[in-house]
This record gives sequence, structure tokens and C-alpha cells, in this order.
Amino acid sequence: MFEGAEHSENTTHKSSAPGLSLESRRSFLAVLLGLGSVSVGTLLSVPLVRFALFPLLRRTTDLKESPVGALTEFSSLTEPVLRTIQIEQVDGWRKAVSEKAVYVTRDNQGRLRALTSICPHLGCTVPWNKEKNQFACPCHGAIFAADGTRVSGPSLRGMDTLETSVRDGQLLVRFQYFRQLVADKEIIG
Ligand code: FES
Repeated sequence: MFEGAEHSENTTHKSSAPGLSLESRRSFLAVLLGLGSVSVGTLLSVPLVRFALFPLLRRTTDLKESPVGALTEFSSLTEPVLRTIQIEQVDGWRKAVSEKAVYVTRDNQGRLRALTSICPHLGCTVPWNKEKNQFACPCHGAIFAADGTRVSGPSLRGMDTLETSVRDGQLLVRFQYFRQLVADKEIIG
């Protein structure tokens, strides 16, 4: 009985002698399998992570140009006119279309200029005062000339100009937001 068992033990030992033991091979395969699973998992998670972070990593908004009107409508412009434009904003996955009020006026060289109606002081909408021939903010009394330059009041700068271009006889404007309460125009979106 004892001899037989000894014989069996010797036989088993002889069959695993040339390479790794069965246990070592099992451990090696387990490590290999584990590494494979981690690699596949990592590869699969990359697009999922990018998908989840897209709204955070994407630039908040990229505003396109909006049509304001035909150039001919502004050829005899003598004072600022208020126009409403539609702007498309992309915020992560959300796309929103909103309306903004802009003024079309002339600079001191007589060229067309677009101004945002948002007061650079604290953001109130600035109306044009036809009788006084000036912009007068109702909130804290900032006064601006017809071309948007600062005249008086708490605002540290004039009304903000917007980028304009002409395409197919249409005046286009790129709406943007600017930092308030600072002396220099600074785009924030
Ligand atoms: S918001 Fe226009 S003067 Fe203050």
C-alpha cells in the first residue's frame, strides 16, 4: 500500500519536471487573464469616459453669425436702430436658440457698427433716447454717445461692439458676451 503510493508520487513528479508545475501554470494563466481583462476594460471605457465628459470638455458655446438685415436698410441711417437677432448656442448636449437685441449705428468715420444692448456696467438693457440723442441706461445712469462711446456714469467703458460682416448684401453680426465692471472689453462667451 505504502509502496504503491510512493510509486504514484514519483510518477506525478516525473511528468511535471520538464516545465512549470501545474500550479505555476495555473497562476501564470490567471495573471494573463487578469491583465487581458484589465486591458480590454480600459479600452472599452475610453469612449464611455469621453462620452460622459463631452459636455464638460466642449467649449460652452460657439456662436455663429446672425443676419441683422439687408445693407440697404441701413444706408440712410442717422441714429441707432434696434434689431433683434436670433442666436444659436450650444451648451454641452443642449442646443438653444434665443433672441438678442443689438443696435446698428455708425462709428465716427460713418461706417456701420453693431453694438450689444447689454450695459457693460451690470448688464441692464440700454435704451436709445431719441430726444437726447444718446443711450441712457435706466439702472444706474450710464450715458453713451450714439456710436456707443462712454459719456458718463458708472460704466468703466463704452458699449461693446460686435463683429460684423457682409454676405450677399446682408449685414451679419456675431453676438458675444463681455465681462462687466471692467475697463477693457473682455469676451467671456
Ligand atoms: S447696469 Fe447700466 S448703469 Fe448700471
